[in-house]
Amino acid sequence: MEIKATVLCENYVNGQAGAIAEHGWAVYLETNQGNFLFDTGQGKAIINNAQYFHKDLSIIKGIIISHHHYDHTGGLFSVLGHTGKVKVYAHPDLFKNSFVKEEAHDRNVGVPFRKEILESKGAEFIFNTGFSEITPGMMITGEVPRKTSFETGDKRLLIKTNSGYIQDNIMDDQTLILNTSKGLVFILGCSHSGIINIINYVIEKTGQEHIHMIIGGTHLGPADKETRKKTIESLKQFDIEKIGVSHCTGLEASMQLYYEFGKRFFFCNVGTKVEV
Ligand SMILES: [Fe+2]
Ligand SMILES: [Fe+2]
Repeated sequence: MEIKATVLCENYVNGQAGAIAEHGWAVYLETNQGNFLFDTGQGKAIINNAQYFHKDLSIIKGIIISHHHYDHTGGLFSVLGHTGKVKVYAHPDLFKNSFVKEEAHDRNVGVPFRKEILESKGAEFIFNTGFSEITPGMMITGEVPRKTSFETGDKRLLIKTNSGYIQDNIMDDQTLILNTSKGLVFILGCSHSGIINIINYVIEKTGQEHIHMIIGGTHLGPADKETRKKTIESLKQFDIEKIGVSHCTGLEASMQLYYEFGKRFFFCNVGTKVEV
């Protein structure tokens, strides 16, 4: 598969005067199998930035959602206003309620729209839990088995049960995998499954070990020092040509990755384009 990916939503913007940054993530994908959108940001930037970078939302063949959090799903409603009827690939937990523990109160961080509203705007949800193909050369991981001892998730992210709040394991977290002539390309959402778990699972599923590129959120920002250290040590064991981090990676972890990966590292912000 040949791809051109343009970041439409991310926490930072580099000098493009008309583009907007927001806490969120979305990538416009142009491929030889048609155009797709991976995530939608939180909704304040996507339409503006798609227009700014001349990315036509009306022609996309599908929207892939990495997980239920508002900063990846909040743009769905406005994107559907441009696409009309379109396939939306996601995990069946997409519409669960979940919360983040904050000082003042527990804030809801789920999809900010009801399923019926999105369907009335044209969304045709296709739910998956297992490793699935969207189009030849383009796969989504589905649920990623949690195997490493150190990737224990973000303890601030919660779901409500009858016996109170418990940690949300975010089993709906999935990564987009593109099989290119240069190797695998990973487009992460927030890596709530753990980036090492994700890579191991994809290698197991595809039988391919060469990773041309990884872009997206690693969730190493909120991780404790020990988790971050063990994750970066493990990352170095893989055959990764380029790594472009974003979003929930944070400055400190990004600097550590830059130190370890050197020229193979890049920031992946609003307007970043990668072509394979
Ligand atoms: Fe996120
Ligand atoms: Fe998230």
